Amino acid sequence: MGDDSIHEERKEVKTNRALFISFEGIDGSGKSTQVQMLYHYLLNSGHVAHLFREPGGTAISEKIRSILLDKANTEMTPTTEVLLYYASRNQLMTEKVLPALSRGEIVLMDRFVDSSFAYQGVGRGLGKRPLNFLTKFATGGKKPELTVLVDLPLETAEDRLSNKTLDRFESESRAFKERVRQGYLYLAKREPDRYLVLDGRLPPEEIFGVIKKRMNQLLGISD
Ligand SMILES: Nc1ncnc2c1ncn2[C@@H]1O[C@H](COP(=O)(O)OP(=O)(O)O)[C@@H](O)[C@H]1O
Ligand SMILES: [Mg+2]
Repeated sequence: MGDDSIHEERKEVKTNRALFISFEGIDGSGKSTQVQMLYHYLLNSGHVAHLFREPGGTAISEKIRSILLDKANTEMTPTTEVLLYYASRNQLMTEKVLPALSRGEIVLMDRFVDSSFAYQGVGRGLGKRPLNFLTKFATGGKKPELTVLVDLPLETAEDRLSNKTLDRFESESRAFKERVRQGYLYLAKREPDRYLVLDGRLPPEEIFGVIKKRMNQLLGISD
């Protein structure tokens, strides 16, 4: 992910307008599928693009990720959880995201701040206040130009994960996951211009068609 060597091989690189785009949704919604399709589409069109996952994306952040997702960490408090997320996020923003954006490059995020609002703010019940503070403190308040929310019913998402070994969040209760889903929908309603909400039950190519259209609008390309 975010492998710079891919870009160095490209001779004809397009002039970019820095764009910061996040993908959100519950586990199994199809975010990673879509963000990867967009990443390859952008690279194939000659853009300089990076894809980072959260938590993760730097050496330190990936170590924090393994603590956060470890199912053995049953005693982790919601406060520890949110602080670890923002520690991972600050490292990623400082080391990779902000420098790429200041070079005028495109940054795609497989989860970002809205995940914390939905999972820790709503799912764990921490509320908005600590999240607003931490977002400002750890990210400088940098917001994505576009957030794609892949939404779908819990049952569909759970069916898709049925053959997978589940991590700490994937094995959470249905009530928790439903709060997270509703948390996302609330965020999307509050900021309709930033959010693109898509039906995750549709075939991947159909979902991607809508994302590609919006992406091309952001890039100033009409199709
Ligand atoms: N639109 C879709 N329709 C049906 N299955 C999908 C779709 N998108 C993704 N999948 C499948 O669902 C599973 C979860 O997708 P993934 O992209 O990893 O979701 P997430 O990153 O949101 O957890 C994968 O097995 C993937 O192949
Ligand atoms: Mg994923």
